[in-house]
Amino acid sequence: MHPPPPDAPLLFFDSGLGGLTVLGPTRALLPTAPIVYAADYAGLPYGRKSDEELAARVPALLGRLVERYQPRLAVIACNTASTIALGHVRAALDLPIVGTVPAIKPAAEMTKTGVIGVLGTEATVRQPYVDDLSARFADGKTVLRHGSPGLVTGAEAKLRGEAVDPDAIAHAIAGLRDQPGGDAIDVIILACTHFPLLQHELQEAAGPEVCLIDGAAGIARRIAHLTQGQAWPDTPQPGIAVFTRSDDRPPPPLAALAPYGIGSVETI
Ligand code: DGL
Repeated sequence: MHPPPPDAPLLFFDSGLGGLTVLGPTRALLPTAPIVYAADYAGLPYGRKSDEELAARVPALLGRLVERYQPRLAVIACNTASTIALGHVRAALDLPIVGTVPAIKPAAEMTKTGVIGVLGTEATVRQPYVDDLSARFADGKTVLRHGSPGLVTGAEAKLRGEAVDPDAIAHAIAGLRDQPGGDAIDVIILACTHFPLLQHELQEAAGPEVCLIDGAAGIARRIAHLTQGQAWPDTPQPGIAVFTRSDDRPPPPLAALAPYGIGSVETI
């Protein structure tokens, strides 16, 4: 394979704005990397879709995006899409694909009580992929899971400068705490890329003794590792955000995306 040209972008993909929480730490490591950030607003929320639908939708859409933007690497910055469709995407596309999966390994190393909470979408928390991660990395620990669509709505609202429903935050934490053994949770994995956008609200609700973790920094390091030695532009270029067209959800104002290095918005 030829080395990619310096202007070949990194493609980030999510159902909505959650993947920005993976883009942020990646830009910190690779500040001149050209960025295309793609959000499937026509499909949001993924957490309420069936596995079959996502296993077909995600590879097809990524295929279109790869053809259009010719990225050097694609990041599925979405736990739901990754835990369901990562294998399908890798089989369909001929470029490096980085997925985002619940950070169970670091959580298992960190817990002192032996009880971990996984906060994700409804689709993610029911995945066998999460059973496998728990069996491999959290043997002997208790892994409690809860799916929270309200946090996805809350995170989208927050980034648009709208109010976050405090009940959504309280319900999400209660959904873990109220399970048998839930009182002892000392680490909560934010297993949906939208949720770190609500880190502050969730930390307040969970209390200072609970550690909230996510995998974004590790994914950023993985991207840097996979692109090591490749050429990049000399200076940062404004990134592109691309949204699939949705009648009831217009793209957010550019001002919400500008802090992530995005300079223009397209719809497809
Ligand atoms: N950001 C996505 C995730 O990490 C999913 C949000 C949704 O579309 O339900 O799982």
